[in-house]
Amino acid sequence: MSAGHFVITDSTCLLDGPASKVVLIGRSSDTEKPLNDNENMSPSAPHSATARTGGTLSGSARVPGDKSISHRVLILGAMAVGTTRAEGLLEGEDVMATAAALRRMGVGITRNGDGVWEIEGVGLGGLHAPDDILNLGNSGTTARLLCGVLAGHEFTAILTGDNSLRARPMGRVLAPLNEMGTQTAARDGDRMPLSFTGSSDLLPIEYFLPVPSAQVKSAVLLAGLHAPGQTSVVEVAPTRDHTERMLAHMGAAIEVADTATGRRITVTGQPELSPLDTQVPADPSSAAFPAVAAAIVAGSEVTLLSVGVNPARIGLFDTLTEMGADLTLENPREIGGEPVADLHIRASALKGVTVPAERAASMIDEYPVLATAAACAAGTTVFEGVGELRLKESNRLAAIEDGLTACGVTVRTEGDQMVIQGCGGPPRGGGKIAANLDHRIAMSFLVLGLATTEPVTVDDVRTVDTSFPNFIAAMTRLGANITSGTKDETS
Ligand code: S3P
Repeated sequence: MSAGHFVITDSTCLLDGPASKVVLIGRSSDTEKPLNDNENMSPSAPHSATARTGGTLSGSARVPGDKSISHRVLILGAMAVGTTRAEGLLEGEDVMATAAALRRMGVGITRNGDGVWEIEGVGLGGLHAPDDILNLGNSGTTARLLCGVLAGHEFTAILTGDNSLRARPMGRVLAPLNEMGTQTAARDGDRMPLSFTGSSDLLPIEYFLPVPSAQVKSAVLLAGLHAPGQTSVVEVAPTRDHTERMLAHMGAAIEVADTATGRRITVTGQPELSPLDTQVPADPSSAAFPAVAAAIVAGSEVTLLSVGVNPARIGLFDTLTEMGADLTLENPREIGGEPVADLHIRASALKGVTVPAERAASMIDEYPVLATAAACAAGTTVFEGVGELRLKESNRLAAIEDGLTACGVTVRTEGDQMVIQGCGGPPRGGGKIAANLDHRIAMSFLVLGLATTEPVTVDDVRTVDTSFPNFIAAMTRLGANITSGTKDETS
């Protein structure tokens, strides 16, 4: 799909000291951003990028809106009665896939300006059957959360996605929903394409999450909204709680109790949801890239504005601090019912640490970029309990291992654990990295290349638009040395 025309503009200095530039990321004048749909999913030519040393990072930036929250604004807004308004919505491809799917089922969704969106809620059970296959692109969150909503609708929908999404397991979400009364048929291994038939007669259930997953938790809660009575999800490790927070704001009865078996979240079904009028904080998972870059590129100092610091999302910042990063969260406040702060980080010597399995859920998307910090640290870093990384947009354990190895770093995977031997400073680099349709692998290795002795090339960076439109331009404005070219030019 077209990425649209984004512009980067300098604005006046908001901060004292060395942080003197403010980078705003937004779109130019057009008001109707094209949405991902079945017709415009055809990919453009592969586009590589190379990161090199030669630029310290300085200044301030506001990274794009939170991806998880943006999906939920659209989905929950569609289920409300009335018009939801949101500012700062992420306009990345994943969120646009959610918007396109909802539109195809009759939801009025309008873009009124940069990140400013309105959603005309159709109420619980108010979606229309889609008249074509729903192609959800690269977005696992869209796929899983949408199943939760479709569960309460009697029609059949066919869901598919790109090569990456079609390889990801959907059984984890289909199992509880089928227990509630949906009927599904999927490819071997519970992969997409899949056919999903909901029910107007769902049963409320109590579901113990077999793997910590905010997507599965949210899908069951969204289905539970359509069922009579109380639906509960019990999670052993707390996962991001944006769905619960937003539902509470919309007037749903949501109870959260810490019990002997874990955290039980209970929703009472069939409420009338009030629309939201909200702002989306900057995504901590996107802030992770300039934050780690500033930590590993000598002389850097960066402030990232209005970053979401929900306790279920800040495992990376805790880990970087343990590693010796000079990181502070300043000006804490609340945006749209979520805690935010300005993240200030300066380059410093890092040391290896053990990241415990209990922390994994709070930083599940940040391991690839943390691996680049671990590669620069002195000593060994161990990621415990990270088997889930095999099931993300790519097999991230394999991608990290291959990429770091290509850059001269010693790394091994032992079962669900990864061990990275830090180089006590910048590694050699020089690797040619295959992004494999994984936005976070692409961005992580560009971050590493900013510090390594030899440049690092990522074969295809189109995929960064999934979560961080204009990533290279935003990093370049902060001082990073990243050049882009076609695949053929650099291979
Ligand atoms: C997300 C939950 C996480 C995360 C994903 C977004 C969400 O996935 O990796 O990028 O918005 O709920 P899991 O729920 O599969 O851990």
